[in-house]
Amino acid sequence: MTEGIEGKLAIVTGAGGGIGRATALRLARAGADVALLDIDLGHGKKWGEALSAESVVEEVRALGRRAFGFQADLGDRAEATGAIKQAVAELGGLDILVNVAGGAITKMETSFASITPDEDMNVLFNANYASAVNCSQAAVPVLRERGGGVIVNVSSPAGLRGSATGSLAHYGASKAALNIFSQALAGEVGKDKIRVNVVLPGYTQSGRVATLTQARGFNPIPTNALGRFPMPDDVARGIEFFCSDLATMVTGQILAVDGGPSSG
Ligand SMILES: NC(=O)c1ccc[n+]([C@@H]2O[C@H](COP(=O)([O-])OP(=O)(O)OC[C@H]3O[C@@H](n4cnc5c(N)ncnc54)[C@H](O)[C@@H]3O)[C@@H](O)[C@H]2O)c1
Repeated sequence: MTEGIEGKLAIVTGAGGGIGRATALRLARAGADVALLDIDLGHGKKWGEALSAESVVEEVRALGRRAFGFQADLGDRAEATGAIKQAVAELGGLDILVNVAGGAITKMETSFASITPDEDMNVLFNANYASAVNCSQAAVPVLRERGGGVIVNVSSPAGLRGSATGSLAHYGASKAALNIFSQALAGEVGKDKIRVNVVLPGYTQSGRVATLTQARGFNPIPTNALGRFPMPDDVARGIEFFCSDLATMVTGQILAVDGGPSSG
């Protein structure tokens, strides 16, 4: 069992499917009680993920841990603050916050830098940036009071560098903002024994991404060193590392979980 997670109280956002669901299951297997926050707790099931129980909350409970589900649009300040408050009340405290909610959830065809509609820009910044800011700001006072804790934010390689074609421009910009926010927060709250780190997943085969890839007729070939695309649980392992006591001296870091250098 991973050092330092047993008995901890965790909130995972975007836990209705994909990487968030895999993270909730991993933290529960490592001995944490988990509150699952999502705008749609049935998200993964809708995108074809095979659940081992009726819902993700039930999957976590089947692992012998306490689990609570809350539906909220975390890009909305009031909803996010309310959901964190309720989750902390049900859990009885908080040690770990993992912000996974988000995604490149607007139309690909209009995602280019010069033509992105304002509406799409707002959707992307709310889901990917404001959600993590809202939840982190609601969680920090609770973690401070507890004497420390961990925040992990899930960003994207798209937040490190603009794409060669100009696509995913505002998705990348929202994740770039998240990277800087995370490092600034790590600097601010280190004295409170709160660590803040970032995971950058490669092209991860969540139900949504795998389904959309197929629907668009793509047949991408992995060009990374390890020769395969990450699965949600691969990314969750990187997140678990940051949450655990294996990372007690690690903060303000950005870890790519993407299979390594790419020739593509
Ligand atoms: N899958 C990839 O290839 C990949 C690559 C890089 C980064 N990421 C990032 O990883 C995270 C998870 O990706 P995934 O592929 O597992 O996606 P996913 O769509 O399976 O999961 C994202 C979850 O976030 C929830 N969500 C979206 N907007 C929300 C909001 N406003 N409030 C609350 N919940 C909201 C969704 O309902 C969903 O359950 C995202 O932040 C995404 O940007 C994914």
